[in-house]
Amino acid sequence: MRQPVIAGNWKMYKTVSEAVQFALDFKPHVVNSHHCEIVLAPTFTSLKTLNDRLEGSNIKTAGQNVCDRAGEGAFTGEVSAKMLKDVGCSYVIIGHSERRQYFGETDESVNRKIKVSLAAGLTPIVCVGENLAEREAGLMEKTVGSQVKQGFSSLTEDDLLRILIAYEPVWAIGTGRTATPEIAASMHHFIRSSLAEGWGKSVSQKVRILYGGSVKPENIVSLMSEEEIDGALVGGASLEPESFARIVNYNRV
Ligand code: 13P
Repeated sequence: MRQPVIAGNWKMYKTVSEAVQFALDFKPHVVNSHHCEIVLAPTFTSLKTLNDRLEGSNIKTAGQNVCDRAGEGAFTGEVSAKMLKDVGCSYVIIGHSERRQYFGETDESVNRKIKVSLAAGLTPIVCVGENLAEREAGLMEKTVGSQVKQGFSSLTEDDLLRILIAYEPVWAIGTGRTATPEIAASMHHFIRSSLAEGWGKSVSQKVRILYGGSVKPENIVSLMSEEEIDGALVGGASLEPESFARIVNYNRV
């Protein structure tokens, strides 16, 4: 049984005081929500304060990125895995398509980031997904298969079991155009088969794969009813406490 995960990626939204207000408003809605892991990914600047406010609750936090170098050093502007752990993070988002598209992230840097994050005791949420041109050309499995193979290169079975994957088709992010539950489930199935090839069937059956891309209160139930979909990585609809609470509490409708 794979425990579902519902994660909110706030991207470059919310000041510290807005993040605190969100926590105050959101907490009561999910105080009894134990069917899934609940994760919020604020900006680096809000992490410490938000974690202090969430202490003792069932809500965990994620960094949105991490430096690919181990340890510490002269890397201006970077934040290390140890620093994320130090402010109370449990997870870290790695290889989001916006980082790949705008900030030059590659499968090789994704691979290094996974390794430093695991070494620091963080759970990586590794994003993969094809863009519109790749989908229209029928190349989605080629793209995603290569992201999995190269991004997870030289990871052990134990490493794999500590990772979450988020399938986020780029054409569905922020566009209001959600992948149908069937399209998402078929890509999740494909990702699981790729994992089985590299690390064996038993590992592949245990890895949790989240879907991301225009997830809303209106479509979460049909997405989560797919056996292959183990949770969601939510952008826009995670910015408002009631909307994100409705997504977390998809099992109550
Ligand atoms: P939206 O839910 O706004 O489409 O964003 C998805 C996403 O990128 C989550 O990481």
